[in-house]
Amino acid sequence: MPENIPTSKNASRMEAIVSLCKRRGFIFQGSEIYGGLAGTFDYGPYGVLLKRAIENAWWDFFVTRRDDMYGLDASIISSEKIWEASGHLTGFTDPLVEDTKTKKNYRADHIIEDAGHVAVGLTPEQMSALIREKGIKSPDGNELGEAKTFNLLYPVQMGASSGTASTAYLRGELAQGMFTNYKNVMDSVHPKLPFGLAQVGKAFRNEIAPRDYTFRTREFNLMEFEYFFDPRLGNWQELFEMWRTEMYTWMDHVGIKKDMTHEIEKQGPDLAHYSKRTIDIEFDFPFGQKELYGLAYRTDYDLTQHQAHSGISHAYVDDTTGEKFIPHVLEPTFGIDRTILAVLTSAYNEEVVGEGDTRTVLRFQPRIAPVQIAVLPLSKKEELTKPAQEIVAILRKLFRTSYDETQSIGKRYRRQDEIGTPYCVTVDFDTLTDNAVTVRDRDTMEQVRIPVAELATYFTSKIL
Ligand code: GAP
Repeated sequence: MPENIPTSKNASRMEAIVSLCKRRGFIFQGSEIYGGLAGTFDYGPYGVLLKRAIENAWWDFFVTRRDDMYGLDASIISSEKIWEASGHLTGFTDPLVEDTKTKKNYRADHIIEDAGHVAVGLTPEQMSALIREKGIKSPDGNELGEAKTFNLLYPVQMGASSGTASTAYLRGELAQGMFTNYKNVMDSVHPKLPFGLAQVGKAFRNEIAPRDYTFRTREFNLMEFEYFFDPRLGNWQELFEMWRTEMYTWMDHVGIKKDMTHEIEKQGPDLAHYSKRTIDIEFDFPFGQKELYGLAYRTDYDLTQHQAHSGISHAYVDDTTGEKFIPHVLEPTFGIDRTILAVLTSAYNEEVVGEGDTRTVLRFQPRIAPVQIAVLPLSKKEELTKPAQEIVAILRKLFRTSYDETQSIGKRYRRQDEIGTPYCVTVDFDTLTDNAVTVRDRDTMEQVRIPVAELATYFTSKIL
């Protein structure tokens, strides 16, 4: 294995990752040609491949392989009544504070924490008092106003009419889609407890201060499921442990380094209004240790709320006793953009690979690498490009395979290292006689000769 260059300072490590993501077509600023739109990002060709691979791996891991999970794809635009019942219309807020001179808005808790004080559990009034007492100023050095609560939900106007009657909301979390369709799923598919409803999609939050690249954005991607179970069995702790273990297995599955994760038990005012117990799994991002995933025990809060607000019974009927009860819910939640950032941080390496030579390499887990195999003919002569393209046609049926005949083989290897391609297949003049190719391993840079007829089997054992 090549020697690792000691990790550069975290700030420059983040800059290096951001720069690579732009240079190699993973992630771009949203609306960039018009100066950018804060809190939005666009995934480019390799970013989309990575994102899709992660979403597909998640769906396969948590849904397809299990017989207690069902999928859902609920509408993003949703009734105000949903968010009223869930408590988000009143409770889904962050503390906002304004620079009295520039009129720029900031998260009051971030301003306090950045000044070296603790903001956890403080009300906006207490934050205002602390800001005054400690003489905390805005990042521009100006006086700050009073802290107040700011609701994160995005209202949208429905149709041509205006007024509150036609106001709907972009969903602030996926969960409510699962709760409001619980009854539909029960009546159509009749699942038995315990079972889960899973969804992958976009969520929207009008974050006061989007920051840290794709970590905190206004439009983001989520993978989430609600696991409904019978509370009479008294086994919620056991189920909680099962999902906690599965979340760590998942992280290993996609190459998130366990030694960079930390578990935080949410306490007191930090616990969401619906939760009896929540753990956050935090990750050592280059900009600090911050939340990656969450696991919450939401009890029967949401189903009970929707039952009360809709007037429709959400009771589950016990087959044998006829007893009626509201199921309880466990919710593992996985931010996709943060998964991508954790995967990039885990995979990013700068290495010495010879006298004065270095390389940047993304050591992606092969199952989620945007390109899994690159086929590279040694020369552009048709006698090599033709068999190389025939190999691409075979491999593409099973793996994300690309073809590249530009520049020297060394430069092509470096390019594939930078986008994290685990295997390169080189077609050379010997291929024409021995019907074999050279397979280069991204991580060890070792090369082995494999017969073309055995390539698919070889990569199946390495990648799938
Ligand atoms: N249904 C529960 C729920 O939505 P959350 O902790 O508010 O819980 C879930 O959000 C996950 O979504 C977080 O663990 C994080 O990975 C991701 N997330 C939250 N806000 C985000 C934002 N503004 N930008 C990017 N990802 C975000």
